[in-house]
Amino acid sequence: MLVLGIETSCDETAVAIVEDGRKVIVNNVISQIELHKEFGGVKPSVAKLAHEEVIDALVEKTLKDAKLSMSEINAIAVTLGPGLIISLLVGFKTAKELAKKYNKHLIGVNHLFGHICSNYLGSELEPPFICLLASGGHTQIINVKTFTEYEILGSTLDDACGEAFDKIGRLLGLPYPGGPNLEKLAKAGNPLAYKLPEAKVNPYDFSFSGLKTAVLRLVQKLPENYNRADLASSFQENITNTLVKKITCAAKEIDTNKIVIAGGVSANKTLRKKLLSLNTFSIFMPDLKYCTDNAAMIASAGYFLRDTNQEAETMDVFAKDPSSISLKALSKASL
Ligand code: KG4
Ligand code: ZN
Repeated sequence: MLVLGIETSCDETAVAIVEDGRKVIVNNVISQIELHKEFGGVKPSVAKLAHEEVIDALVEKTLKDAKLSMSEINAIAVTLGPGLIISLLVGFKTAKELAKKYNKHLIGVNHLFGHICSNYLGSELEPPFICLLASGGHTQIINVKTFTEYEILGSTLDDACGEAFDKIGRLLGLPYPGGPNLEKLAKAGNPLAYKLPEAKVNPYDFSFSGLKTAVLRLVQKLPENYNRADLASSFQENITNTLVKKITCAAKEIDTNKIVIAGGVSANKTLRKKLLSLNTFSIFMPDLKYCTDNAAMIASAGYFLRDTNQEAETMDVFAKDPSSISLKALSKASL
């Protein structure tokens, strides 16, 4: 089964074709990072226009790269949320028009569910497993029971993990996005240079605002020429230790030895190394190009969701998230 995936929830316009949820035929991503740098974060109106400018051509290019025509595509999967609503609507409108024109099954995908599915790409991973999802907007520990059944065990109480990287990156004077740039700077630093606090919250929840405030206070006390690499490295050490501690604790609790990570922060090499050094667990992580936003993960998710009932008011397994939207609700939205 060939699924064409479309993703426009934030600052990446992405189109991909995936076979049977696992084999990536083509994965195209146009990043808007350069456009948003001057704002120090994603500017929704700029993102919407940039998606609109390239989406049709990117669908065409993806089919051409795959040497396929729309008649050979079996279904279209599109991100419904969570994300920037005006950006999401660009992808949804394109997917809806394509589905109508070529009479294809349209499958709505929750972006976070998509991130989990990035782990099925090019792998043989099967549920059950425990998943740490750490992106720019969310941080969750999810008990993945089957390909379509989940239970969220814990979430962040304030900032998302990627958001904390982005904010500290900004404090260190690094360009947007903070995560990958902070990781680069941290390479030259000493992870034990500064002792930073760890939030005291229940085992599966996260809180990063205290850490952020502690770093801010520390910087205010330090001389102007303090060692930025040391601070970046100490921050990264603290946050990755917390992530590893919580996900291993949850794995033990639900009695699984399969730990899976997903979302932009799963690209962090210190986190990946720490997890891989644990010899009592099997660790699964997406290929680096599938950690951050892409459409291959959405096409994969579409494959696994192909038989689910999307007419329900919410097909959303992450329905607790107020920014998530159902296919039905989006279909009614004026485009
Ligand atoms: O999953 P993603 O591409 O978009 C969302 O769904 O939010 O995640 C983006 C987030 C950003 O906050 C970015 O700084 C962070 O992931 N990120 C990283 C790394 N690469 C991306 N954080 C730490 N280390 C990285 N290497
Ligand atoms: Zn994402």
